[in-house]
Amino acid sequence: MRVVIIGVTGHVGTYLVPRLVEAGHEVIEISRGLREPYQPNAAWQHVQQIKLDREAGEKAGTFGPAVRDLQPDVVIDMICFTVSSVQHLVEALRGHVQHFLHCGTIWIYGPSAQVPTTEEQPRRPFGDYGIQKAAIETYLLNEARRNGFPATLLHPGHIVGPGWEPLNPAGHFNPQVFAQLAQGLEVTLPNLGMETVHHVHADDVAQSFMQAIANRSMSVGESFHVVSPAAVTLRGYAEAVAGWFNQPARLRFVPWEEFRTIVSPQEASATWDHIAHSPNCSIAKAQRLLDFRPRYSSLQAVYESVNWLIEHEVLAV
Ligand SMILES: NC(=O)c1ccc[n+]([C@@H]2O[C@H](COP(=O)([O-])OP(=O)(O)OC[C@H]3O[C@@H](n4cnc5c(N)ncnc54)[C@H](OP(=O)(O)O)[C@@H]3O)[C@@H](O)[C@H]2O)c1
Repeated sequence: MRVVIIGVTGHVGTYLVPRLVEAGHEVIEISRGLREPYQPNAAWQHVQQIKLDREAGEKAGTFGPAVRDLQPDVVIDMICFTVSSVQHLVEALRGHVQHFLHCGTIWIYGPSAQVPTTEEQPRRPFGDYGIQKAAIETYLLNEARRNGFPATLLHPGHIVGPGWEPLNPAGHFNPQVFAQLAQGLEVTLPNLGMETVHHVHADDVAQSFMQAIANRSMSVGESFHVVSPAAVTLRGYAEAVAGWFNQPARLRFVPWEEFRTIVSPQEASATWDHIAHSPNCSIAKAQRLLDFRPRYSSLQAVYESVNWLIEHEVLAV
């Protein structure tokens, strides 16, 4: 297959490109060329690089036609965040691609209701990002099911991997929380620490794209969660991290209204976003229809990521 990926040198592309090349696909990547993948891999030598700025191309009306002119069999869209953006691309690609894969998010759901959440449950998103992503999903599923556009949506959880800071047990991204747990210092968690987060390793997200392409007839017109086999509570997550360093977890629990005053506004905003969603998603559909088999549990994925931070002296424990 001739595969065009839009937005490829990030978390997922770092793992997806080597997988596509190894499977024998011809890979063309579109980015602005501002950054390198997180991990080097010889596969990148086999990738044709096209420098394009999506935003500028959309404003000029040239982005969709430029993607179409690359004559792809498959288009993977990693960086689409608005309905107008996906519409622009679909209008250009209609009738010209065999498969179109969109990277969504589990933020298409609002607060978890019956867990684990299945793809059949209603979307009640909040926040601009989730609302837009849910609207993109509605649009693409409608295009697939009514008009035959070959779209598949893959919805990752919190993407983790070596090279960047994982979402931590306090529900934000300050890596010092890992250092505190590693040193046996007290860590404060909101409420009872029973709200949940749902990570996924970036390589498992890449696997889901490979499986969706390989199982096209099962994946077109469908949405799939792409998360680890089980979500974790903030409390369970904190206890596990402390355990990696042979420390007891010294946890203090305070109501949300107090928690928000003892962390930075940025941390409070991130924690609120995560605990208000408290995601806990099922992968049964992806397992059943795509034979998706995540290699990493949530804790294994974070462990690898935290080790990378320590080895690269981003984190002193
Ligand atoms: N991060 C998470 O935890 C998470 C969770 C759930 C879902 N998601 C979804 O995952 C997707 C993002 O995937 P990712 O995390 O692998 O991406 P990422 O790490 O943010 O990488 C973005 C990629 O897009 C390129 N890019 C950015 N702006 C561009 C532009 N204007 N024109 C062309 N290329 C551009 C970047 O390269 P250049 O800068 O060189 O252009 C880079 O290759 C999104 O759809 C997001 O909703 C992420």
